[in-house]
Amino acid sequence: MSSLGTRFEAISIEGLSHRFLSRNKPPTTALADVSVRFPSGKVTSIVGPSGCGKSTLLLIMRGLVKATDGQVRFLYGNGSGDVTVGDAPRMATVWQAFNLLPWRTVMDNVAFGLELSGMPTAERRAKAADAIRAVELSGFENHYPGQLSGGMKQRVGLARGLVMSPDVLFLDEPFGALDAQTRLYLQEQLSTLVESSGKTVVLVTHSIEEAIFLGDHVIVMTARPGRVAATLDVPLPRPRTLDMQKEPAFGDLFTEIYGLLREEVRKSMLN
Ligand SMILES: Nc1ncnc2c1ncn2[C@@H]1O[C@H](COP(=O)(O)OP(=O)(O)O)[C@@H](O)[C@H]1O
Ligand SMILES: [Mg+2]
Repeated sequence: MSSLGTRFEAISIEGLSHRFLSRNKPPTTALADVSVRFPSGKVTSIVGPSGCGKSTLLLIMRGLVKATDGQVRFLYGNGSGDVTVGDAPRMATVWQAFNLLPWRTVMDNVAFGLELSGMPTAERRAKAADAIRAVELSGFENHYPGQLSGGMKQRVGLARGLVMSPDVLFLDEPFGALDAQTRLYLQEQLSTLVESSGKTVVLVTHSIEEAIFLGDHVIVMTARPGRVAATLDVPLPRPRTLDMQKEPAFGDLFTEIYGLLREEVRKSMLN
């Protein structure tokens, strides 16, 4: 719902719990009573030990997994304080594994979602070309995934999300598999991109630096079953620059987040 006078304001997660049932194993409680809000136009980073339910939370928000308990609500406002619950805004996800189709070119991989939605060829190619330009891959439209480096594949993945013009972009450890330099470069590109587009972004990452550098807020989760340990604001101005990592505010926040995560990571290694 985005009828006249209403504007998407936030995704509100309320009392969300999820238990995976398996045939031969005891059930896994992935999330326990998670309540959190993702405000529109902001980047919210999520950090937490491996296996604490971060990807599950994204799947639930995308409607791909139905939570055992609790609610995902999409909130809309009319500018004068009234909030209503409405349908999901346009959403896209960039998953960690790039999931590119090896037999399709960069152009056809990026245009795939639009093709599925039935958009005519000329229109979807124009939109895909814009997205390819946004991730600085112009000139590689006719390459196949096998001809690209890891960083380039990841950018194709990002373009595939952007091309859908989502209101909300979910990124699940988008740079996890890349070398440190490529990762830094893509973090800079992504920060420019989100700053110029004003999109709502939910970024799952295992890098505390990345969570701070890209985020307006950082949600720290506990070891499984994942709960919210803290939601912290990032007190850095935009546009972000890499040298902000040297500022005391950055270091203080890093220390605070690491302090919260340290014990959780230790626990997650035991279970
Ligand atoms: N389809 C599934 N069936 C059973 N267990 C699952 C399934 N998906 C995830 N899990 C389990 O749920 C927990 C949370 O997984 P996940 O959300 O992928 O964690 P994260 O993304 O934080 O690493 C893990 O213990 C994982 O093994
Ligand atoms: Mg995950």
